[in-house]
Amino acid sequence: MDATALEQSGPAGSAASITLEHIGKTYPDGTVAVGDFGLEVRAGELTVLIGPSGCGKSTILRMINRLIEPTKGRILIDGENILERNAVELRRHIGYVIQNVGLFPHQNIRTNIGTVPRMLGWDKKRINERADELLELVGLDPARYAKRYPHELSGGQRQRVGVARALAADPRVLLMDEPFSAVDPIARGRLQEEFLKLQATVRKTIVLVTHDIDEAVRLGDRIAVLAEGGRLLQYAPPAELLSRPDSTAVGDFVGADRGIRRLAVTPLRPALKPLDRGAPVDGRPSVAADGTLYDALAAMLAANATEVVAVEDGQPVGSLSRAAVFDVPQQEAEAKV
Ligand SMILES: Nc1ncnc2c1ncn2[C@@H]1O[C@H](COP(=O)(O)OP(=O)(O)OP(=O)(O)O)[C@@H](O)[C@H]1O
Ligand SMILES: [Mg+2]
Repeated sequence: MDATALEQSGPAGSAASITLEHIGKTYPDGTVAVGDFGLEVRAGELTVLIGPSGCGKSTILRMINRLIEPTKGRILIDGENILERNAVELRRHIGYVIQNVGLFPHQNIRTNIGTVPRMLGWDKKRINERADELLELVGLDPARYAKRYPHELSGGQRQRVGVARALAADPRVLLMDEPFSAVDPIARGRLQEEFLKLQATVRKTIVLVTHDIDEAVRLGDRIAVLAEGGRLLQYAPPAELLSRPDSTAVGDFVGADRGIRRLAVTPLRPALKPLDRGAPVDGRPSVAADGTLYDALAAMLAANATEVVAVEDGQPVGSLSRAAVFDVPQQEAEAKV
């Protein structure tokens, strides 16, 4: 197939949309891993697939790069039917981060990162430069790490190399299967934080699989909740999913503490009350005006206060009471997402 939308590296940050149309996978033994699944992943967004073990998440992900061939349906990337392409060739243009990273143990880090560029025939100098650039991007000093072997890195560092490797040829689509699951919760939080910053720079179209609802809420622009057989229960931005699960099954899945989670994804600004002109703000804790209701509540609890002042560019711009934190109408919270 000729050069297509998927291969054009385009300007930095360009991304592709992904459309899954009634895709399904039935294994030869009759197991219906995915019955009939559809999803629209917008360009430059991070979509999370979440659901119980065995519900078909990895199967869906692997159908997108054709490590698994669907038994029905169509998959379009920027409108192009990828099932009509050469599968091996296709995979060179789709970054893939697998669980437990899957680095090649006998290759050093730089060589691991260069895997796809090598297949694409880049020259050695360009590959090495790209590998070092990516190591910096994921927060690993090339001078220290490029020549190490995977077993000489910590689990979290290996995960970052996995992400760097998937980004090496600047793919427009990135598939990630439980990319941060192999590290402890603290390291995971840090990796997620770094990954969000990275995504703000590279703006790839990402489909990420996880078991962890907190990770989904933290990273996802949209979350698809799945049930057995790849049945799509709900597809919505995090705040909407938490504030308005549209079935008991989704409600149970997102958990009883979803109220708190919702605060963490709801901006505080719409809930602010104007400050009385000249009113003293001293003594009250402050919070950044572009923070969330969760930040506001945390500041109040830390200072044992019932009110917080929101600050922007060093100026107080409004106040928020503890009661108001829990009072934000749902529609308003959703409208902001
Ligand atoms: N080669 C195969 N033959 C038959 N059934 C299979 C095969 N591979 C996977 N399955 C089944 O397909 C279903 C979906 O598997 P999949 O790996 O997509 O689940 P998952 O949602 O990623 O689960 P987990 O969260 O545990 O990783 C499971 O019931 C699994 O047993
Ligand atoms: Mg899986």
